[in-house]
Amino acid sequence: MTAFYQDKNVLLAVTGGVAAYKAAELTRLLIKAGANVKVVMTDAAQEFLPAKTLAVLSTHPVLTDASWQGPSSAVDHVHLAKWADLIVLAPLTANTLAKLASGLADNVLTATVMASAARKIAVPAMNDVMWSNPAVQRNVNQLKIDGYDFIGPASGFLAEGYEAKGRMVEPTEIVTSIADLHSDDFQNAVFEEKPLAGKKVVITAGGTREPIDPVRYLTNKSSGKMGYALAEAARAAGATVTLVAATSRQVSPAIQVILVGDTREMLAAVRKEMATADVYIGAAAVSDFRVAEVADHKVKKHGDEHMMLDLVQNPDILKTVGEAKKPGQVVVGFAAETENLVENAQAKLVKKHADLIVANNVLEEGAGFNKDTNKVTLVTADQEPIQVAAKLKTEVAEDIIALVADLLTS
Ligand code: CTP
Repeated sequence: MTAFYQDKNVLLAVTGGVAAYKAAELTRLLIKAGANVKVVMTDAAQEFLPAKTLAVLSTHPVLTDASWQGPSSAVDHVHLAKWADLIVLAPLTANTLAKLASGLADNVLTATVMASAARKIAVPAMNDVMWSNPAVQRNVNQLKIDGYDFIGPASGFLAEGYEAKGRMVEPTEIVTSIADLHSDDFQNAVFEEKPLAGKKVVITAGGTREPIDPVRYLTNKSSGKMGYALAEAARAAGATVTLVAATSRQVSPAIQVILVGDTREMLAAVRKEMATADVYIGAAAVSDFRVAEVADHKVKKHGDEHMMLDLVQNPDILKTVGEAKKPGQVVVGFAAETENLVENAQAKLVKKHADLIVANNVLEEGAGFNKDTNKVTLVTADQEPIQVAAKLKTEVAEDIIALVADLLTS
């Protein structure tokens, strides 16, 4: 754990709940674990804990509305927002949670958090009824979609004098949970050298949805996990990442996500992004067919007649990108197979003008749709196929990105 915090810049954002007094211990523990800690506080937080206490413990001036000199100051909020590798909001009140969920920046704390691309960890603390209020839960969901991680609240003895869920998680547990949550993102021993620095990578993810009528569509079982894992791995390797996704999942704020619905929409987004990209990775499960004529109104049944859907072939996104490949670009596709894995992957490599095909036998244990693990064979034109043992999709993603980095330089 100590290794995780070593030389990390942690910005502790303290808002006005009674648990604010625990920010003192949290500051101390983070520093003890090896982090550089700076603090930003709201006015309400200072009613519970003087800024001076945290200034002394963190050995840095605390940014408050009163000390905020505006953008020209040496300790301004943009400077602090950039400095932070990690922002820990503890305690986070329902009020600030709501502001962040709707993008309000009306004090120095919200302005700093909003101006930062760092990973954000919310540690809420509030009354139990307030926590289960639908408006609060809506805001929590919104922040989760926006990429915030949540620790707690915990169940226990509340300031109100009874046992319920709403307590801020104890500082010791916060420090360990953050390290557990984020060790993968920050470790990346494989990418110490940042082999994709300065490169732009476009990745597709999820299962496309082909409309039948305004309320129905055809799709597949893809969860998008592999594509999202690749996006995180490419980001960790230093790339600028654009994810064209047909399935929405949580992702680092540094990754640009373009949400799409059907195959033609995905193709249009990919084409546009590829004009400035170095790498394309087609991890999406693209529907090979779409409904020839999408009904304007909900299709009704009248009796017990058979329903026939007339399907036409969709464009092949990978093939389109492969054919338009510019010198120096690397194009990667996937091949979901049920037999003759390597032969079929080699055929797809040629047919789609790809540099690498990541092949998996979807019938095999530990591989395929909607799982956390994958077992793949990496097929390129010049090397012997590389069989990768079954492992987490996040780890498979790192192997693929490492090979992509090799292909870019070869
Ligand atoms: N792919 C694509 N556009 C399509 C179909 C597939 O870009 N219309 C891409 C997928 O994203 C994947 C690769 O092609 O990277 C292989 O997909 P797969 O379904 O295995 O192959 P198909 O080309 O559809 O061939 P088949 O279904 O006949 O095996």
